Order: sequence, then structure tokens, then C-alpha cells
Amino acid sequence: MKPRVLVTGRIPEHVLAQLKAECEVDSHTADIPLSATELIDRVRDKHALVCQIVDTVDESVVAAAQELKVIANIAVGYDNIDVTAAQRRGIVVTNTPDVLTEATADYTFGLILAITRRIPEAERFVRSGQWRVWKIDFMLGSELRHKQLGIVGFGRIGRAVAARARAFNMRVAFTDALKLEVEDAQQMALDDLLRTSDVLSLHLTHSSAAVHLIDAEKLNLLKPSAYLVNMSRGGIVDDAALAAKLRNGTLAGAALDVYENEPHIHPDLMTLENVLLSPHIGSASVETRTRMIEMAVNNALAVVQGKPPLTPIPRVA
Ligand code: DGY
Repeated sequence: MKPRVLVTGRIPEHVLAQLKAECEVDSHTADIPLSATELIDRVRDKHALVCQIVDTVDESVVAAAQELKVIANIAVGYDNIDVTAAQRRGIVVTNTPDVLTEATADYTFGLILAITRRIPEAERFVRSGQWRVWKIDFMLGSELRHKQLGIVGFGRIGRAVAARARAFNMRVAFTDALKLEVEDAQQMALDDLLRTSDVLSLHLTHSSAAVHLIDAEKLNLLKPSAYLVNMSRGGIVDDAALAAKLRNGTLAGAALDVYENEPHIHPDLMTLENVLLSPHIGSASVETRTRMIEMAVNNALAVVQGKPPLTPIPRVA
């Protein structure tokens, strides 16, 4: 009997064929994610679940899936999964680290350049037909060289962003839960990083401790000339407090790829010119998304075939 796998989203043909050669595959290919009850119904008799960040795999899902051996998330983050509940039932949970680091760092730097040089605002201006005359003092942005990039969370992606910043002659400073010795980058306490950075870029993993880590009080520590970039997870920044600061001109700009209540965006953010809004696509290159899907499927296959997973999430409890 072949192992049964539920795949909750579209995956490339070659990966689906690889999976079908070894398993009985049930795939959901519509754009709208499975509802909570549909997910429970379809995972109930499965041995593996290949899922995405839009699937909430909570206690009720893992409790219903009595035969489930592995949850392979196609993402490096896994805050959509109740890892404790899964691991308590002996279910392996895996993610897709490393393969998305460079693409995400590239996109972060794209956002940094775009917000500091006002690229989306300039494009909106041209498209709206307002460009009539060239002016020497029009739409002036801010340069990166000799400025400080402050990185919150100096893991794989944070370091890859730091490498790009050095090529732009930026100074790099960071904060991290671990004490790290890093050449060319200064570790600081979060408050000091907030007070001194010209661009603050968030790359920490989501946890209960990180919820509203950047709240109104922390935002008030930023220089009025600073820019905030969030590529990590929504909820780490208090979006309402951020919108208020951007609106009253006490923060120069923000570039966001993630939000508190995706895909719904705080209405105040939608109306501001000095914020760049991106639809959670930090890792979205053809090459990277393909590698992420291949990695998740290989994790699922390994576990159902009795082999060790490639990239398991360590035990949380
Ligand atoms: C991740 O990998 O966690 C991203 O947010 C989705 O690609």
C-alpha cells in the first residue's frame, strides 16, 4: 500500500510526478486555501501533509489525523503550525531553511532601495499623468552609503542582507537573542539599535515574545529620518502604531512584505505615500519557490519511507 499524502497547494508537475511515483496523492489546487473543516476532512486518513503558510495546522487538525507522520511546511517560518501539539503526537514537522535565504535577502535589499529612493511613489506619479516638468528638487530620496543598517535577528537571512549592505558601503549593526562575534557588524541592545539606525530591517522568527516587539514605544525610538523594513512576520510590528507615525511625519518611510492580518492590510497604511506595500513575496522567485517545494516533498517522502527528514524542526517541548 502506498502512503497517502495531502498537498494543499499547486506544485510543479515534476515534483507532483515524483510524489505520485511513491504515494497516493490528494491535491488541492484552487487559489483559496482549504477551510479548517476541509483540511481536517482531507488530512484525516493521510500519512503526510505538504502544506503552506496559509494553512492553519492547529491542535484540532493534528488530533484528527491519527495516521499522520509528517507535516512538511513549504516555508522557513512555521508559525501556522502548532508544533508542540504535532510533536507530542510523534509527528515530524519540517520547514525549508537555506534555500530561500538569497532570494529573500535580494528582495529585502530591493525594498530598502525602493523605499529610500521613493521608487514606487515615483512610478505612481508618472502613471497618474502628473509629470509635467523636470525639477532639481523633486522627489528627493535618501542615500544608503555611510548610513547604518540595523538588523533585528542575525540569522541566515539577516546575515545575507548584511552582506549586500556592505557592498553599498553601509555600516551594519544588529541585535540577536544570542551573543555573536561578527567581523564588520556591531551587536547592540534593541533600543540602541532603534535609536541609531537609518534603516531598520526585521528578520527574526515569529514567536509569542515577538508579537508587537516593535510597538508604539519602540517606534518612537527611531529617528524621524529612519526607514523600517519588515520581511519577517506580520504581528511583530504594531501596524496601527506604524501607520500613525508615518502619517504624522515622525518616520521617513516603511517597506512591508508582511502584515498583522494578511491579506488584510491596515486601512491607514493603504492611504500613505511613504509606505511600500508588498504581498508577502520575499522568497518568490521561480528558482527558490521550486527548491522550497522540492525540499518539502523530499522531507515528506523521507519520513513516510522511514528515513530521517532533511530539515526537521527541533523539538520544542
Ligand atoms: C517563509 O518561508 O516563511 C515565507 O514567509 C513564505 O515563503
